[in-house]
Amino acid sequence: MTTPLTPREVHLMRSSFEQLIVDINNTITVFYKNLFEIDPSLRAMFGDDVTAQGSKLMKMIVSILTSYDRLDEARAEMEDLGRLHVDYAVTEAQYEPIGEALLRTFEQELGDKFTDEVRDIWERVYKTIADMSIDGMTDLKNEQED
Ligand code: HEM
Repeated sequence: MTTPLTPREVHLMRSSFEQLIVDINNTITVFYKNLFEIDPSLRAMFGDDVTAQGSKLMKMIVSILTSYDRLDEARAEMEDLGRLHVDYAVTEAQYEPIGEALLRTFEQELGDKFTDEVRDIWERVYKTIADMSIDGMTDLKNEQED
């Protein structure tokens, strides 16, 4: 991340996440609805099993959250996660709809609490994590070409 999160930003990020998990099933439903509206071609990648989709989303968000305050250490982990995504046939471009769907979901679910500051925090965190994951994907693809 270009600028590390301040303690206030960490607090805002945590409390917004806590609100989203109160009704996690709803958050998951809204996320996938948004995602498939933004990019219907992604539907096939996630299958029809909502429970499985939900656990993937949770893993995704939790891995973002648990990485934010130790991003230097998180880099290796995120790059490995990116390498794993090559097997899932994920492309670099697909990180954009995922990020957009995530932010749209947060906006819808947090209402007034999704202030510009909160949006900015999540945008920065997602971009940082996504870039690390993309680096891992790119490395693996380059190795496979060699
Ligand atoms: C920073 C962004 C992302 C993070 C942190 C993330 C995180 C994760 C994690 C933790 C898993 C579970 C890995 C496992 O234990 O098997 C996963 C699986 C998956 N991710 Fe991501 N992901 C990201 C971006 C994406 C993108 C852009 C796509 C493509 C649309 C994607 C598609 C998938 C799929 C299809 C699986 C599931 C494979 C399966 O279980 O069938 N992810 N992701």
